[in-house]
Amino acid sequence: MKIGFTETVLRDANQSLIATRLPFGKFEPILSELDKAGYYSLECWGGATFDSCLRYLDEDPWERLRKIRAACPNTKLQMLLRGQNILGYKHYPDDVVRMFVRKSVENGMDIIRIFDALNDVENIKVAVDETLKAGAIASGAICYTISPIHNLENYVKVGLEMKKLGVQTITIKDMAGIMGPTEAYNLVKALKEEVKLPVVVHTHCTTGLGIATLMKSAEAGADVLDTAISSFSGGTSQPPTETLVYMMKSAGFEVDVDEKVLKKINDFFKPIQAEYLASGQLNPVVMTTDSKALIYQVPGGMLSNLVAQLTAQNKLDKLPEVLAETPKVREDLGYPPLVTPMSQMVGVQATANVLAGQRYKNVSKEIKSYLRGEYGRAPGEINEEVRRQILGDEKPIQGRFADTLAPGFEAAKAEIGSKARSDEDVLSYIAFPAQAEAFFDKRAEREKNTFQYTIQKIAD
Ligand code: CO
Repeated sequence: MKIGFTETVLRDANQSLIATRLPFGKFEPILSELDKAGYYSLECWGGATFDSCLRYLDEDPWERLRKIRAACPNTKLQMLLRGQNILGYKHYPDDVVRMFVRKSVENGMDIIRIFDALNDVENIKVAVDETLKAGAIASGAICYTISPIHNLENYVKVGLEMKKLGVQTITIKDMAGIMGPTEAYNLVKALKEEVKLPVVVHTHCTTGLGIATLMKSAEAGADVLDTAISSFSGGTSQPPTETLVYMMKSAGFEVDVDEKVLKKINDFFKPIQAEYLASGQLNPVVMTTDSKALIYQVPGGMLSNLVAQLTAQNKLDKLPEVLAETPKVREDLGYPPLVTPMSQMVGVQATANVLAGQRYKNVSKEIKSYLRGEYGRAPGEINEEVRRQILGDEKPIQGRFADTLAPGFEAAKAEIGSKARSDEDVLSYIAFPAQAEAFFDKRAEREKNTFQYTIQKIAD
């Protein structure tokens, strides 16, 4: 049996451990080794990297992609895309989604891993379609969550719906690290047997289950595992690449990854780990195991948010009540997976219900939009009584919310005008308007200065 590895150090590990603050210049020297390691793919773009480039790193995310592409000609590059949300949390019109996907592939992307926070395939179908048209690989990612309706049957159903769209692989996306080895074994087996597509497993070490979960996934027939080079692994990041490669080889799997190259890669990242630890950007706590999520069945990040909200209002004593209310709110909403933004929305609503002493007296505009169907189709049944209490006689929208949106690319292009120098710039502006515009201004300023400096040089 052959097993592939997806290295996440440039994307998810970077995002989970150091809030995506790794600038291109820091990892540029190791790209040629990453290209030689023999990975199935290199996850290096999408997710929060795009926002971080523009907001914090003063980098053009598209240029980053092109440079990685040029330095890694032999390895498949991979990105994470939120379906109809692209890289954010609101729905974009189809022309924008298609243009974003097309430009991603044109600039060097090989594999686009596409998911929707509700596992609503209607929200990934346009992105999948365009990925296929552009000649890239589409991986349909299923968000893993624990609820009475999220059983094998439900996941297989979602997997089959994704297969119908044409995805070439299925990714199990366990963003909270709550999928245990036994559940993983059963899920991988069910997907392999019934959906009959290659299965990729993505988890996090947050609760300590990660390594065992990947091992059992491999035993069940998983084709690819997501791991991070050891100095950027563990805790809220992925399980360590070297460890899993060792385990897989000793278990008799055929592995293409070269340990000698892995050592060079880790030797390169070790001092970077030390540097981020010293600066405080890497908090040692996120590298340790936090088992709370296993006890409360909510992701660690969501629990911290609940505690922070209650602490801010001096009501931390209400935490047990809020934790009891959380699954009830989730049930009323049809069991959305507890992934951003649903985890925050459910948490805020549970807190509001407890603090008001009355359920759904105060309701956020996000929950109202959700009940109107603007986020997509809930995995389970929405409590009709609750919907009526909040929305009255207003009917939820039928079909895809994106169908109600006017095309957006040309309008955005006109709006940003000459500050955008390419279609890629326009897409940056659509995804993160304020950050992109600030970046364009800084870029122009920088070039003006360079120009003046050059003139000065010639004059001197
Ligand atoms: Co992840």
